[in-house]
Amino acid sequence: MEAFKIKYNDWNPDEQKLREALCTLANGYIGTRGAAEEVDRNKYNYPGTYLAGGYNRAKTEISGKTIENEDFVNFPNWLPLSFRPVEGQWLDLVKYQILEYEQTLNMKTGVLERMFVIKDTKGRQTKIKSRRLLSMMDKHLAAIHWSITPQNWSGDIEIRTALDGTVINDNVERYSDLESHHLDPLYNREINENSILLKVQTKQSKITMSQAARTQIFSGKNSVETTSKTSKKDGYIEQILGFTAREGVTYEVEKIVAIYTSRDRSISEPSLEACKDIKRSGRFHAVLSRHKKAFQHLWNRADIGVIGCGEVQKLARLHIFHILQTASLNTIGVDTGVPARGLHGEAYRGHIFWDELYIFPFLNLRFPEITRNLLLYRYYRLDEARYAAKEGGYKGAMYPWQSGSNGKEESQTIHLNPKSGNWIQDNTYLQKHVNSAIAYNIWQYFLATNDRQFLSFYGAEIFLSIALFWASKATYNKKNDRYEINGVVGPDEYHTSYPDSEERGLNNNAYTNVMAAWVFQKAIEILEIIENTRKRELYKELKIDDKQLERWKKISTKMYVPFLEDGLISQFEGYEKLKEFPWEEYKEKYDNIQRLDRILENEGDSPNKYKASKQADVLMLFYLFSKEEIKNLFEKLGHRFGEEEIIKNINYYKKRTSHGSTLSRFVFSWILSKYDKEDSWVNFETLLISDFEDIQGGTTPEGVHLGAMAGSLDLIQRNFAGLEVGEDALWINPKLPPNLSKITMRIKYRQHWILIALNQEKLTISFEEGWSNKVNIGVINEIYEFKHGEVREFYLEEIS
Ligand code: BGC
Repeated sequence: MEAFKIKYNDWNPDEQKLREALCTLANGYIGTRGAAEEVDRNKYNYPGTYLAGGYNRAKTEISGKTIENEDFVNFPNWLPLSFRPVEGQWLDLVKYQILEYEQTLNMKTGVLERMFVIKDTKGRQTKIKSRRLLSMMDKHLAAIHWSITPQNWSGDIEIRTALDGTVINDNVERYSDLESHHLDPLYNREINENSILLKVQTKQSKITMSQAARTQIFSGKNSVETTSKTSKKDGYIEQILGFTAREGVTYEVEKIVAIYTSRDRSISEPSLEACKDIKRSGRFHAVLSRHKKAFQHLWNRADIGVIGCGEVQKLARLHIFHILQTASLNTIGVDTGVPARGLHGEAYRGHIFWDELYIFPFLNLRFPEITRNLLLYRYYRLDEARYAAKEGGYKGAMYPWQSGSNGKEESQTIHLNPKSGNWIQDNTYLQKHVNSAIAYNIWQYFLATNDRQFLSFYGAEIFLSIALFWASKATYNKKNDRYEINGVVGPDEYHTSYPDSEERGLNNNAYTNVMAAWVFQKAIEILEIIENTRKRELYKELKIDDKQLERWKKISTKMYVPFLEDGLISQFEGYEKLKEFPWEEYKEKYDNIQRLDRILENEGDSPNKYKASKQADVLMLFYLFSKEEIKNLFEKLGHRFGEEEIIKNINYYKKRTSHGSTLSRFVFSWILSKYDKEDSWVNFETLLISDFEDIQGGTTPEGVHLGAMAGSLDLIQRNFAGLEVGEDALWINPKLPPNLSKITMRIKYRQHWILIALNQEKLTISFEEGWSNKVNIGVINEIYEFKHGEVREFYLEEIS
């Protein structure tokens, strides 16, 4: 049970914002940071509430230029709940003496608990136990429960409960020069002596949100008679409930909140629904009991048991927990992707990047329904991507690097370097490789589910549109009889143009080119798989003819891959001309050189000049594809590329990467697992603690890094347990590192639930249930047919 809990035994104001992000409660629809209920936004407290897909655009003047950003709106704070003894001070841990403090995130039940004993200046000692949830079962409901005990005094108490729509977006200091007001108040009113209602609207996107709150006080089963006074101002409404408390008696304060928005389905109007819900929901324990049931179901599908050194089990669960907070069964039917920083903070403005590439492998094998919904987010934005392609002079569909509400490019045009205070042109939008990531995700979903219906209808249309885009983006170079992709940026965001060049982007980023070649190869394969009727429709609708298919085939074998020397891939064309970076000098000069881009810009220099990468770029290929797949891909491109070459590339780029993105650690841990187990483990451990300990020094308070979190789970499932989703079978090729003694997990492979238990001696596989009575499972090199209910044990010494 302890491995399901994140516990803090002290009140540490300076760590508060980090804890808020880590203790965020969300249900895939709404997310609220683990801020204290009793105080507003201040130096130590940032109550943020976010809605999946809840964006608003706003313009700001920066140095005489107007820029527009689409922000992840901080919606009204539903938390406010405070108390004071009569004539005393409203609760604020900074102002009271704290005698005891404990905060626990219970991940098993999705409940955030706080317990504290405080003393005011008159010596009055009070104990408060707070529990909070955002219902996983009833996605519109949230609830707070306080047990409040005056320990050495009796007297009048006031409870203040409020809904606060005066909030702004203020979670990320770097954005503070940008417009941060996104809400207009619509109305607020008292529903009755214990219930209030607030309605707001986002300024530009006109999303309305209604929140209704019912606050009641009980002593045991009996409700306590209270006085009630409601007051309000624009965007804010509060109720103060008064009663007389007796020493040693525990009073229960319950705040039940219902949240609806104009984006919801099957509603009449948000306020009407919210008012209805707080009437019907019952008391806290009823809401809690339903919420717990939903969590039981989630863990039943999603838990990964991992026994080993340190806190690996707890941290793995923390990562599972936050993925399920952001993308849960409640996400189904919501028009949203997975924001890179979850529903946990405002960094990257809730935008959807390529990070889903790292997140879907976990979801695919447990909740394919969720992945399907998230892939539909892209399908619904296909027209916008088509428009972007056309505007750029291309065919097909060109998805944006950063996507928000309607799928247009939301990357910022300039960004602030907090180190220098300079606003810098941002060229990262040139990461067209996001298109291949979307295609890759479709294929992986198909492999895991065999969902032909999805592939034929939605998947193929997106996939083929992306192939059309790459075919029009690629240009033929007669000199070397190769196709090229120019003017792009690869995954490594430190290189966005050539040194001293005015032009944006780079030519022939190897990762981008190889991925595009893969897209063509798979597109042709997909055309063989999907229904003929649909194929004919798509040919006509997307204007695909034999000539086009010929072009795909040609480019897929003649795409240019730059090399520095035999077998050593060049990150992009011209990389060899860059200077080596003086790593040692900078490691000595600065405590942390992960964000080299900011350090160098502050020194009037640029990472564009150096062979220094923010994150894995070329090496991404060895994460996405197996050794065999790499060999085949390169063979088709006319290059011999085997294990020796893979190792050569790893060794070269390993020395030249600063890990300025948390995603990088994950990829390195993965690719090193075969060649440098120790280093691989170090990267895995770093990844596990990267949010928990905020290793980047201040980024986690702005939202967790979901890609890295999911990456750590993917390492357990695909690397250590050795799972590979194949077309012919689910392959298991265990590689349990010595630091781990056991892994257990349930996964869903093509509608078959399979239980896997692995320790250093033995692999046990149980085929629990499925739509068909048998399933093929490959262990090491051999495929076994499992019958329904069958359990088999494999002694690793015998089979390896
Ligand atoms: C990384 C990108 C990533 C983004 C969002 C950036 O720091 O360089 O690869 O997509 O963060 O997580």
